[in-house]
Amino acid sequence: MIEVQNVSKSFNGTQILKNVSTVFEEGKVNCIIGRSGSGKTVLMKSIVGLHEVDEGKILFHGRNYTDMKDKQRKEIRKEIGMVFQSGALFDSETLEDNVMFPLRMFSDMSEEECRERANFCLKRVEVINKNKLFPAEISGGMQKRVAIARAIALKPKYLLCDEPNSGLDPITSIVIDELLHGIVKEYNITAIVNTHDMNSVMEIADKIIFIYQGQKWWEGSKEEIWSTDNKELNDLIFASPLTKKIKQYI
Ligand SMILES: Nc1ncnc2c1ncn2[C@@H]1O[C@H](COP(=O)(O)OP(=O)(O)OP(=O)(O)O)[C@@H](O)[C@H]1O
Ligand SMILES: [Mg+2]
Repeated sequence: MIEVQNVSKSFNGTQILKNVSTVFEEGKVNCIIGRSGSGKTVLMKSIVGLHEVDEGKILFHGRNYTDMKDKQRKEIRKEIGMVFQSGALFDSETLEDNVMFPLRMFSDMSEEECRERANFCLKRVEVINKNKLFPAEISGGMQKRVAIARAIALKPKYLLCDEPNSGLDPITSIVIDELLHGIVKEYNITAIVNTHDMNSVMEIADKIIFIYQGQKWWEGSKEEIWSTDNKELNDLIFASPLTKKIKQYI
């Protein structure tokens, strides 16, 4: 479980996150939605400590991460897998080396054990016989899967994915969704997924958090979202012609 308590964050005098509080439960996929620029990435980076919050606290299973020293934070950091918005694989390293990176960095496993674990994770995301290829030699969808393999290499308790479906076709997106959902349920991970993709939300979300101009504007379930009278949320989810059409039938 991850708790976000009254978190605020400004950059150069502009407040980006405004007193955000929510809870992300264990074994659940928690989707954060919101318009571009609303603060989803800043919130995710604040949760993992890539941004220091100005106010408020982040707790990982009751452990106050915000007030910890670097050394204690590093212990929790090992329990977090993160998939960044821009893929962020190392271009000059093979797929296998990419997945081995956190194992070499954070575990005391031998080189052989690291390789075995990397192979297991690559197989888990169905990237088979491609270990020695470089990121540029595989498709964007496969790069996302390798990024997920790297994020789960250390058997994380927490998995944070920033726009895992961006730039993917709808069918590949569903493959990534099913993969993420499967991994979260299989290992009972607390997952946070930032996404624009309502399809994906309806596919995998156990809980939805809507961020509007840096504030938590609404939270609820997939079932609740269709009947909400929250104007800004309706504007977002019924923005496309397709969802507008669907609305006539619900
Ligand atoms: N390091 C930074 N320094 C200054 N401003 C920043 C920084 N990071 C983000 N911002 C600002 O914070 C706001 C929220 O950005 P953020 O990246 O969180 O949006 P987002 O909701 O993730 O958008 P998108 O859906 O496009 O990814 C933006 O106005 C952005 O310019
Ligand atoms: Mg973002």
